[in-house]
Amino acid sequence: MLEEIKKCASFIQERIEGFVPEVGIILGTGLGAFAEQIEAKYILDYHDIPGFPVSTVEGHKGRLIFGLVEGRKVVAMQGRFHYYEGYAMSQVTFPVRVMKLLGIQYLFVSNASGGINTSFSVGDLMIITDHINLMPNPLIGKNMAELGPRFPDMHNCYDKALRDKATAIAAERGIKLQYGVYVGGTGPTFETQAEYRYFKAIGGDAAGMSTVPEVIVARHMSIPVFGVSVITNCGLSDEIGDHEDVQRQGAKAGKNMGLLFTEMIKNL
Ligand code: HPA
Repeated sequence: MLEEIKKCASFIQERIEGFVPEVGIILGTGLGAFAEQIEAKYILDYHDIPGFPVSTVEGHKGRLIFGLVEGRKVVAMQGRFHYYEGYAMSQVTFPVRVMKLLGIQYLFVSNASGGINTSFSVGDLMIITDHINLMPNPLIGKNMAELGPRFPDMHNCYDKALRDKATAIAAERGIKLQYGVYVGGTGPTFETQAEYRYFKAIGGDAAGMSTVPEVIVARHMSIPVFGVSVITNCGLSDEIGDHEDVQRQGAKAGKNMGLLFTEMIKNL
């Protein structure tokens, strides 16, 4: 696996002609529009990258965008890989491994999620303060000791200094923020009412089907992580969420998320 990761990274390095991204960004469902705020220098379709899985979900484009945000070098994944699509965890997290070898020093992750905290409204942005993993751990298997330890620490998994920066920027820009714990399940079903209550009882504020594997792998490699959830539905209300709602709400709230990401990157 490590050889495959290295091969992929050197293939990309050749294509991007010495460009070294400082920030890796993963754009969640409905949040792909942030890509337009990147002054793109190189765009690689996942199809064309050896070793990269290819996204199957509607609304996920499937390309790596290398470029500038406020003059800072970034690489954005427009489209991510979900466990529910049938990928192995090693595939879901493969791009994060590759981005590390390409040089990223920060990982920004975003996702659409279902609010469990009853003070949340549809369209809110939630700064992820911590997570609960209800998926298989992506580090199960032989440890890649060259990349990180066998038993990685998960304290400060979502970097406190980055969260504080977000709070300051949001106050300055008048962006409303919520804070909370993201519960990552496998999906693809949305939760039953009893499961939303269970997620709430164990300390969750929002439910989703992504992010946790990528964050665990990033922390394995000691990359500081900043994570934002767009609340696209409220799990404990009677209304039924569907994938189209999630995409639509994601796109709407994505504007503020884009502003927050841009300002954060500018001030790193
Ligand atoms: N549950 C899980 N994943 C989600 C949800 C949800 O309610 N909304 C958006 N992604």
